[in-house]
Amino acid sequence: MPKSLAAFFLAALALPAMAVTPEHAAKMAESRELFSKQVRGILKDNCVRCHGGEKTKSGFDLTTREGLLKGGDQDAAIVAGKSKESLLYQAVAHLDKELAMPPKKPKLPAESIAAIAKWIDLGAAYDKPLVDKSSREKAPMQVGRKDRAYWAYAPLREGPPPTTGDASLGDIDRFLLLSQLKDTARKHQDWRDGR
Ligand code: HEC
Repeated sequence: MPKSLAAFFLAALALPAMAVTPEHAAKMAESRELFSKQVRGILKDNCVRCHGGEKTKSGFDLTTREGLLKGGDQDAAIVAGKSKESLLYQAVAHLDKELAMPPKKPKLPAESIAAIAKWIDLGAAYDKPLVDKSSREKAPMQVGRKDRAYWAYAPLREGPPPTTGDASLGDIDRFLLLSQLKDTARKHQDWRDGR
């Protein structure tokens, strides 16, 4: 990349940082505080299960700020700084007849809805993701039923090679063929189970 171009990109990168006013920083700090004290708990208790925890309904994952801003199938869930224009607020405040969250449950307490509104108005800051996915992945390894089925865990067994009806195949080829068949069958099963 020519030097001048690199300089241009660097300047472009620096721009948003320079645009941050002290007022904005203060608001975000307040928003983050509100998030850790109140909003985090509200979202965790009432929303995460269906939006980024066990399930991700409507393509909407609110466990990270990125997912929150991106929104789901319908639209961005949040317009940072503007609660009234934010789909998430409209949903929890039951302003939108079509979209009332959490579904089939009573409206959240007014205090919770007000906290969410204020948090959005201040910039919808996060302290950290609602679900620590990295630690979930790094959780101590547990050997489940499926893992145990893996050949390396199976006890050693001596038996006759499987029969195939194809006389040209040697013993090892017949074992290999059987294992490929099992593999294919397992993949089909996984596919049918929707895994
Ligand atoms: C029991 C599961 C469930 C829970 C709990 C739940 N939602 Fe939803 N959510 C859904 C489903 C299903 C949809 C899609 C509904 C539709 O399109 O009518 C949805 C859609 C949404 C959308 C629109 C996303 C888009 O762009 O398509 C938002 C915003 C939303 N939920 C916010 C919340 C918030 C905030 C909470 C917690 C207060 C919450 N949801 C709790 C199931 C749930």
